[in-house]
Amino acid sequence: MGKPKLVVSTGAGISAESGISTFRDSGGLWENYPVMDVASADGFRRNPELVHKFYNERRKALMNAEPNAAHRALVELEKYYDVYIITQNVDDLHERAGSANVLHLHGELMKIRSVSDPDYVESLDTEHLVTTPATRGKRGDFMRPHIVFFQEPVPNIEPAMELVHEADIFVVIGTSMVVYPAAGLIHAVRPGVPVYYIDPHPADVSGMSDVRVIAKPATKGMEELKEELEKNMKDML
Ligand code: OAD
Repeated sequence: MGKPKLVVSTGAGISAESGISTFRDSGGLWENYPVMDVASADGFRRNPELVHKFYNERRKALMNAEPNAAHRALVELEKYYDVYIITQNVDDLHERAGSANVLHLHGELMKIRSVSDPDYVESLDTEHLVTTPATRGKRGDFMRPHIVFFQEPVPNIEPAMELVHEADIFVVIGTSMVVYPAAGLIHAVRPGVPVYYIDPHPADVSGMSDVRVIAKPATKGMEELKEELEKNMKDML
């Protein structure tokens, strides 16, 4: 018998303890930057310079951050589970922690893509983190941040929905669950599958059955959940 499938949906809250700002908490990014100016398709058309500048700053902040114990706990759980991470985050902290399977719903900060061909993507190296509307890729195309802006489709939502539908256990960590389609992933869980939600200020999930809320920061909440999930597997051996 294979390992059970543990599918984990993460939001900005999992990276908060690594020093990366969330969006909607008090002092969060959207309090200081108008979201439709810096993270929408219209905003990018109006003022691409500003959008590049915003993501240059995000990359700089990411360079000063390290994965935290919550990212690492998800890697350690790979010993007992087939762990699949679906993240709304554009940081690379899950990858740097060592997670084997990471699906990004909203793009990746450390990548840029062609403005004329969405399938042409290049990785940035840590020495060249600043981009502008004049930045060209190796093929000569003008490049933009590899971010799914508001008003754009979310191409990875379909594989994400499939993963959630196949989950034996589903865990949500650090998301306000207000941005769709990501917020709807929880509804793709099969009946009877245990669902855990770790967030110190969780969204209201009282209308959903089988959700166990762990109202704690990601590192503490994951420490507890990891212990429980490991124990369940050891008890079966
Ligand atoms: P939000 O900023 O909306 O929500 C952050 C969540 O993290 C809140 O529920 C907080 O309570 C929780 N949180 C804060 N500190 C935490 C901690 N130490 N441990 C665990 N949780 C903590 O961020 P997201 O839900 O990820 O999209 O936002 C979703 C999308 O909205 C983002 O991907 C981004 C944004 O606009 C784009 O830019 C396309």
